[in-house]
Amino acid sequence: MKITFAAPRLPHSGSVAVPVMEERVLGPTAAKLDKESGGALTRAMAASRFKGKGEETLAVLAPAHLEIGRVLLYGVGKEGGTERGPWQNRGGNLLAQFNAAGEKNAAIVLDHSGPEEAAIAADLAFGARLRSYRFDKYRTKEKPEQKPSLEELAILVEDPAAAKRVFQPLEKVAEGVFFARDLISEPANVIYPETLAEAARSLEKLGVEVEVLDEKQMKKLGMNALLGVGQGSARPPRLVVMQWKGNPKAKNGPLAFIGKGVTFDTGGISIKPASGMEDMKWDMAGAGVVIGLMKALAGRKARVNAVGIAGLVENMPSGSAQRPGDIVISMSGQSIEVLNTDAEGRLVLADALWYCQNRFKPQFMINLATLTGAIIVSLGHEHAGLFSNNDELVERLVASGKAVGEKLWRMPLAEAYDKMIDSDAADVKNIGGRDAGSITAAQFLQRFVNNVPWAHLDIAGTTWSKKDAPTVPKGATAFGLRLLDQLVAEYYEER
Ligand code: BES
Ligand code: MN
Ligand code: ZN
Repeated sequence: MKITFAAPRLPHSGSVAVPVMEERVLGPTAAKLDKESGGALTRAMAASRFKGKGEETLAVLAPAHLEIGRVLLYGVGKEGGTERGPWQNRGGNLLAQFNAAGEKNAAIVLDHSGPEEAAIAADLAFGARLRSYRFDKYRTKEKPEQKPSLEELAILVEDPAAAKRVFQPLEKVAEGVFFARDLISEPANVIYPETLAEAARSLEKLGVEVEVLDEKQMKKLGMNALLGVGQGSARPPRLVVMQWKGNPKAKNGPLAFIGKGVTFDTGGISIKPASGMEDMKWDMAGAGVVIGLMKALAGRKARVNAVGIAGLVENMPSGSAQRPGDIVISMSGQSIEVLNTDAEGRLVLADALWYCQNRFKPQFMINLATLTGAIIVSLGHEHAGLFSNNDELVERLVASGKAVGEKLWRMPLAEAYDKMIDSDAADVKNIGGRDAGSITAAQFLQRFVNNVPWAHLDIAGTTWSKKDAPTVPKGATAFGLRLLDQLVAEYYEER
């Protein structure tokens, strides 16, 4: 789908969306169309529940005397407002409606002359773009009427050039989101450590430095916790290190993002039940989001230095697989008793976090991981769990999440929880029992973090969606990417 910005001249065919404020106050374009059609819009509103509230829409088909086939009234609430989220949602909702109607060409009228026009137009476009995502490369027998119909969406504004300028970096973020959603959606026979590392390599053309460590190199570094998880698989593990150096003059260390990349999680010898196991193809979403984030930052040429690290393994049961009770020596030197091979993400991250802080001396480390089923019990699919050793970082992350509609909820860390993972046989064990499962997982990670501001996002409940949302179609959400891009832009970018 193509998105364009154009001067406000109404098209003669297709669909046109026009804004209506609360209490059915028509915007200028809606008022004009209403007049030309002899009051068709007013009568349609009167015959419906449409009031012009924030996210309402009302389709008016074939209004009398107009060439346009469909006028879509969209509510903008009290005075339209300039809050970004609602405008992105409107863009997403309108896009879905155009597609549902089988429309090929559509236009959205803004009717909002003023200094915020460009930003609003760009957010509408961003929301529409994000909603247009679809993972359909393996559907070869779809009929045309099953596919999205919209080919071109025009946003009609007074100053199209200005809107285009504001949209440009947002479009790059959307490209990062799409890349991550693609990687997360791919099945595990297509995306495994080597192929996911290759995908990360493709960022080199954007100026990202990409290194891929193989088994031998990781062995030499002592990453036995990560390697133990992968040892049952025919697919060898990889560690990807991506560097975006957008601020060569920076005095502080880089920002670091670390992702869990378990390309398939069978549970290993502590094998998972068959039902729903296919979901574990997206157990690499943390890594997918980190790779997509690096693409977004490089794409929009963010003035910041960022490091992305992805620990890539496949967790399989086999004759060479790790056994419950095995003890491994992690890169940090701490010994780990692996009591459950299904608690594998923390083992991968233990070495990735340790490696990251020692090599890069980052300003902060933020890791993303589909780490625990327990976080879904706690927070459902609405919030991701946030664990951190630093209040300022928490504040910034929560605010960024609110700004982009990717919500976080802080969970506790404490000495008493930490005790739950003391091992009788080694320095630490990889499970803490049934209670507080997400917290003990986070405590485990914290044992591999020294004196650096750190946050862990448990995204197990927010990574995959079973229903459409305004800017997130069902499937892979790439949750965390927009949030972290916002965090970087708002608090860490050189201007
Ligand atoms: N990848 C899973 C967590 C998960 C579960 C993500 C459901 C998304 C949906 C993780 O590796 C895992 O298996 N965790 C175990 C930990 C337990 C063995 C302590 C879990 O949550 O059951
Ligand atoms: Mn697991
Ligand atoms: Zn897992």
